[in-house]
Amino acid sequence: MLPEASTLAPAVDRIFWGLVGLSVVIMGVVGGLVLTFAIKYRRGTKAYRGPLPDIMSREVEIGWTVATLFVALFIFWWAAAAQLPHFLLPKKALEIHVVAKQWMWKVQHPEGVREIDALHVPVGVPVKLEMTSQDVIHSFGVPAFRIKQDVLPGRYTSTWFEAKEVGDYHLFCTEYCGTDHARMTGTITVMEPEAYARWLAEQPHGEDLAGEGAQLFTALGCSACHGAQARVPAPSLANLYGSQVVLADGSRVTADEDYLRESIERPEAKVTAGYPSTMPSYQGIASEEQVVALVAYIKSQDGKRSQAR
Ligand code: CUA
Repeated sequence: MLPEASTLAPAVDRIFWGLVGLSVVIMGVVGGLVLTFAIKYRRGTKAYRGPLPDIMSREVEIGWTVATLFVALFIFWWAAAAQLPHFLLPKKALEIHVVAKQWMWKVQHPEGVREIDALHVPVGVPVKLEMTSQDVIHSFGVPAFRIKQDVLPGRYTSTWFEAKEVGDYHLFCTEYCGTDHARMTGTITVMEPEAYARWLAEQPHGEDLAGEGAQLFTALGCSACHGAQARVPAPSLANLYGSQVVLADGSRVTADEDYLRESIERPEAKVTAGYPSTMPSYQGIASEEQVVALVAYIKSQDGKRSQAR
């Protein structure tokens, strides 16, 4: 069996073994009956071969149908109770960005450290992955952690895990994505927190994500309209993240990460009330990683948040 290397693993394994046990019991009963009747009615025996006695009553029919239904409902409840809490992302977590592409995993730590086909994380700390793809659908699967999450182009998906044991674990792409799908693998290295901090310090540091986004904000021309000195009417990005935006059609939308990325790539999709829809699309101009950095920059443009940091 695989190591149970995350906090989610024991619950998933309990369900797995529970279902295996249940299947073995059913298989035993069915197999036992097949064998019993095969022996009892083998050629040459004097066992009764007349018409079937009329034993099938309505009560028996209803009884076994309802009993089967309850077993199925129990299994559904059992799996849901174990899996659903995992969809709630932890509030305090180490947030790491992952960009998938044919055929590699690109990882960005918030401190500006990058990795390819590798992910170093500390043990005993919830790690949240914000993931997107720059081409086709991939899937981030770590069997030892019992997690698997589709990674889609054009939107963010997240998953999280908390590693329980130090070690190296396999990362697989678990969605067929082209010729080298089978080679789209990586290694997740779980380290003691001190060793992780040391590893992080030793890596070449680029700009942190928000800093990189700040540079792109000027380099890609965003500041011409959204900057402090801009003369074109464009919504301010200060305190935008997490706020309610009123759109031209009167509806409201929460400015979350998906909204920000959509507004960069397809600005005409949700136009802020009171502003012209003149912003050009940055799809194909800003790469997937640049969009991640721009979103990180916009998220950092939050008075309260940056003071708290
Ligand atoms: Cu990426 Cu399969």
